[in-house]
Amino acid sequence: MSFNAIILEKEEATGVTCSLKNVNKQQLLAQQGDTLIQVAYSSINYKDALAITNKSPVVRKWPMVPGIDGVGCVVECASDRYQKGEQVILNGWGCGETHWGGLAQYAYLKSEWLIPLPNKFTAHQAMTIGTAGYTAALCIERIVDFGVKPHDGIVLVTGASGGVGSIAISLLAKLGYQVTASTSKIDEAYYLQKLGAVNVIDSQTLKETGKPLQKEQWSAVVDVVGSHTLANACAQTQYGGIVACCGLTQGMDLPATVAPFILRGVTLAGIDSVMASYDKRIAAWNLLAHHLDEEILSYVGRTITLNECVEVANKMIAGKIKGRFVVDVNK
Ligand SMILES: NC(=O)c1ccc[n+]([C@@H]2O[C@H](COP(=O)([O-])OP(=O)(O)OC[C@H]3O[C@@H](n4cnc5c(N)ncnc54)[C@H](OP(=O)(O)O)[C@@H]3O)[C@@H](O)[C@H]2O)c1
Repeated sequence: MSFNAIILEKEEATGVTCSLKNVNKQQLLAQQGDTLIQVAYSSINYKDALAITNKSPVVRKWPMVPGIDGVGCVVECASDRYQKGEQVILNGWGCGETHWGGLAQYAYLKSEWLIPLPNKFTAHQAMTIGTAGYTAALCIERIVDFGVKPHDGIVLVTGASGGVGSIAISLLAKLGYQVTASTSKIDEAYYLQKLGAVNVIDSQTLKETGKPLQKEQWSAVVDVVGSHTLANACAQTQYGGIVACCGLTQGMDLPATVAPFILRGVTLAGIDSVMASYDKRIAAWNLLAHHLDEEILSYVGRTITLNECVEVANKMIAGKIKGRFVVDVNK
């Protein structure tokens, strides 16, 4: 039996290539796993875009099927965690990096990596959320658990028009927080306001070198951008506030001083979705199931085919997309 998959290959003569191929199931089953999934949808996250365009060394085993996300039906499970026919979600765990991922009609995975698809969401909605939305939920859980309340002040979301940013704005607004969205796409202000942003600011104001301490503006921050943006976000966070840091679209560097941390007691909280525990995943997906406005998902998401992934990945790296891209792997 064979199935369609995006395959990343590395050869000395040709370098890294990305193509849609028909793959033999035996090759898939050579991966370490105990659960065969018939994938319905995957999605394109920033890390997938980096892998597909080979802009960063995301892939560490070749050939590789990219796709850090997937949702689908269990075909067979050698452990007692899942029964045939159950719908499950995959987010992370090195899939698309060291283990074949979700941009394929089948995936062979470890059952402990999977979580049940929450009743609230369809498979398509789960991938509109995807790792981006689940990471937004991890950031917001951290902020809420830290004790930041809606009346404490405004929450800043950077890289606002992207996947993490879009879901973060929507979830924060639904939880009653006032959100300022920082974006390079000022002409998309309406999109961000419809998600729930009260203010929209030009991201350029955060991208340049700034002073170590600036006017206190934010009770909390969800930052996907890193570099100077993260440094400025910390410098603008209120006394005792928290900055949830999860991304690096401007850069992996952090050209900051310790001033916000030692003079204002600001907390810089690192957020990782890839290796997060089962309990953290379930808590984040529960937060989404209970508080995310479902209607927003059809507004945020677009569906593409496996064939369109390379084009979308290139646009994503160029910062030219907004919202989320769900991949129908059977088209
Ligand atoms: N820690 C984790 O577990 C985890 C999980 C998921 C994602 N991430 C990271 O979070 C980041 C965002 O992921 P995503 O899925 O939301 O990506 P995305 O959909 O591509 O959104 C990223 C947004 O960042 C902004 N941006 C793009 N290029 C930029 C640049 N050169 N300088 C400044 N801003 C830029 C753009 O927003 P505007 O045009 O609106 O400014 C873009 O829409 C990525 O770095 C990703 O690797 C980390």
